[in-house]
Amino acid sequence: MYFHGSGIPSHSAPLVGCSASNFADSARTLCSAWWPPPESLCRRRVVLQTESGRDILTALSLYNTRKGTMHSIVNRIQRACVIYGMVATFRLCVAIAFQSISRFVSSLWSARSITENHDLEFDLKWGVDTGGTVVPEKSEVIGPNWIYGIKYQGCNSDDLDQALTEIDTQHECFTFVDFGSGKGRGILTASRFPFRKIIGVEYSERLNEIARHNVLLFPDSAKKCKDIEVVCADAIRFPIPEGPLVIFLFCPFLRPVMTQVVQNVSTSFHQNPRRIVVLYFNPLFADVWKKAIFMKETRPSKNVAIYDTQIGVA
Ligand SMILES: C[S@@+](CC[C@H](N)C(=O)[O-])C[C@H]1O[C@@H](n2cnc3c(N)ncnc32)[C@H](O)[C@@H]1O
Repeated sequence: MYFHGSGIPSHSAPLVGCSASNFADSARTLCSAWWPPPESLCRRRVVLQTESGRDILTALSLYNTRKGTMHSIVNRIQRACVIYGMVATFRLCVAIAFQSISRFVSSLWSARSITENHDLEFDLKWGVDTGGTVVPEKSEVIGPNWIYGIKYQGCNSDDLDQALTEIDTQHECFTFVDFGSGKGRGILTASRFPFRKIIGVEYSERLNEIARHNVLLFPDSAKKCKDIEVVCADAIRFPIPEGPLVIFLFCPFLRPVMTQVVQNVSTSFHQNPRRIVVLYFNPLFADVWKKAIFMKETRPSKNVAIYDTQIGVA
């Protein structure tokens, strides 16, 4: 039963001094009245996503800057104080906050376990070691850009597989370059397509050694491209290969390095115009590619951005 027009449930027994189970019931009822808040409230959606784009949490933030929302919350708290008393209202607010925090934490855990499961699945399937995260030490990387590097974490191979299947290219004509290849999950996934050549560029020699070992472990029967090279280099120093390219970036570095890589690709393109396709997963610095006028964005998406010079048939 609801108080007429208030949206707050009525209770026959007062909450102050009630038993634990009554209190829990009341908390649940009040929570359900407040969470999710009615459509009339202005709300902001916060969506956390996995690499594959699956939503893992859709939280509704009440901390909306739009006028009226805070006012409405304060009104509700005031009404609850009148109905239930200050102490019970305070307890209920704490219960609601606790419930929201525990939902948030449990969804973070579930995101982590989705990633761990995926790591395990890929490694068990192919008998390789590409899982986990690695933060390379400054002393083990080549070049001055350690500060702009993002830690190693393998890409979602299903998503890369799908993107490589969907792009309109004859793989045989293209060289696949993974900037920031880490333990090599991206290049191993690409090796299942008949690329002319595959190159992984990684500035940590430790990760390169693991990647080379993984290339050996990956079954030959699954490889449609056997010309795989793993180069230890800073991405900005790596000379852009001739011929049509598929460039893969899975969130490898921050803006200053990305800007220089885009500049290198642009220079190479202007010297030798050809088809260059860029697959940028988790495109944090998509704007840098968007500004590069020689590229057209072909599939705008939150998780995967694809750019294409669209020159040449290949
Ligand atoms: C998120 S991981 C990507 C892993 C791999 N591409 C994949 O899909 O499995 C980013 C990688 O970029 C590497 N990296 C960061 N900055 C780099 C740079 N300036 N030059 C070369 N590699 C870099 C890191 O060491 C890390 O291994």
